[in-house]
Order: sequence, then C-alpha cells, then structure tokens
Amino acid sequence: MKIAIIGGGAIGLLFAYYLNQKHHVVLYVRNRQQMDILRRKGLFLHKKDHTYKTELEVRNISDWGRFDEDVSIICVKQYHLKNLLDESGLTETHPLIFVQNGMGHLKIIDKLPTQNVSVATVEHGALKSGDCEVIHTGEGLTRIAVYRGENQELLQRLIDPLGDDFPFITEKDYYKMLVKKLVVNAVINPLTAVLKVPNGQLLDNPRYFELLTGLFHEVKAVLHLENEKEYFNNLLQVCRNTAKNRSSMLKDIEEQRPTEIDAILGFLLEEAAERNIPAPYTTMLYQMIKGIELQNMEG
Ligand code: PAF
Repeated sequence: MKIAIIGGGAIGLLFAYYLNQKHHVVLYVRNRQQMDILRRKGLFLHKKDHTYKTELEVRNISDWGRFDEDVSIICVKQYHLKNLLDESGLTETHPLIFVQNGMGHLKIIDKLPTQNVSVATVEHGALKSGDCEVIHTGEGLTRIAVYRGENQELLQRLIDPLGDDFPFITEKDYYKMLVKKLVVNAVINPLTAVLKVPNGQLLDNPRYFELLTGLFHEVKAVLHLENEKEYFNNLLQVCRNTAKNRSSMLKDIEEQRPTEIDAILGFLLEEAAERNIPAPYTTMLYQMIKGIELQNMEG
C-alpha cells in the first residue's frame, strides 16, 4: 500500500519507520530543513542499543493531497489540525486516519466532508532525537477504530503485513477507545509535565503515585466510567510500558511549544462544568500548564 504519513514529530517518524518496512511510505513534513536531511540521510530508529535505518520518500506538507496515496495517517498535534486540513487539497474519497491525543479532534473531523475516517491511539513511547532520528523508548501498540464509513478492509490491508513488529489492534468502539486513552493522557501528561519526570516515576515515587490515584478518581467521576478497574489497570500498564519515556506534554514544555492541554484537560473541564462535578486536581493542573505555556511564550 502507498501510505501518506503527515507530520515529522516523534509519532510521525515512528510510524514512518515501521510502516515503511512493509508498505511504501511518503512522509510529509512542514520544516524544509527536516525534509532535506531525511532525503539526504534517511530515517534512523534507535531501539535497545541498536540503530536501524530506512530510506523513504519525503515531501513538503503543502503538497499533501496532490498525490495518489491509498490512505493518509495524520500525526500532527491537535492544535495544528485545523490549518492543516483547511490548506490541504484532499478529496472527499481519500481515507484519513487521525492519531491525536484527547478528544478535541472529533469536533474538527465532524466538519470534514471525508467519507472514510478512522481514529487511532498510540501506546508507544517515542522520542524525536533529531530531524531524522527517533528513539523507540517504550514498545506498546496502536489501537485503531472506524469513526465513519467503510474502512475495515482498508485497515486490514494496512495492518496485516505489520505483524508483531509494530502491532495494531482493531477496536469496535471508537468512543471507548478514545476515552481509555484520554484517561491515560489526562493523568500521565500533565503530572509528568509539571513534576518534570519520566512516566515511570509516577509509579515508583509513592507521593507521585498518590497524585496519580487522586487525579484518576476525579477523571473517572467526570467521565462517568463504569468499569473503573479496567481503566485504572490500563493506565498503570501504559505507565509501566513507557516508564523511561518523557511524555509528549513534558517534551512540549521543555521545548517551549504549545501543549495539548486544551484537548485533554480542557475537554474534561468542559465535561465537568456541564455535569456540575467538582474537579480541583484537573483545574489546578490545567492552570499550571497554561501558566507555564504563558511563561514560555513571554520568556
Ligand atoms: O502523550 C504521550 O506521551 C503518550 O500518549 C503516552 C502514552 C502518555 C506515553 O508517554
């Protein structure tokens, strides 16, 4: 299959490396310097003391939608989505797969004329260590579900050749899948970003573990989660699998980029307000991250 991957961040590079082993990947990046270096040197993946290289086709993001890929996997941050989609020359029939944290992107997807849309959540740890380098810091999996349209066959063609090297699981219920990931991101991302620790510290430091538990209970109440244990165990599992990883929000803060806080805790605060549920942990962490973003912008 010919697959467009949009975005040259950690997840875009991780997907590009693995999918290029079994498919023909075209990676679309915004930054010209990154495009040049990827074309010249190739893409490097570092995993457990080994380095692997792949050569792949790389184009500028402004050209996306003008070529003949079978499907596009969109790996940009949620806050870049609107501009990206507004500027693209996509047709209604071109299938899209969205890989964003939080739930905010569903509102954007709902306004698109695209017929076939899937959503995915990523449980890998990945760290971009240069324009053409990514470190696979935590091996997890990708969950994927149809959001609208008839995508089952296309998803099977995409996933089947990948096998266990880069596993995908198809889920029937996209909403439950996104909520599960939202719980993970709502707890791990802001806590690690404020405490400036890798994910595993939230399990290893008993004080931080108390914070994790307290925040989880609040998120659970806001989202009316029924099977609490299932969501909590999943949170602990992802934390363990990505123990050495610095969360995407921590990386955003460290590199003075905007974070995905609005798509994650912002979304939860709207839900809490609608349902009249007190959310002190969520409010405090939201304000802290917004404050750090402001400080980074001014400094
Ligand atoms: O956003 C992230 O960093 C990732 O989704 C996760 C799974 C929390 C691992 O760090």
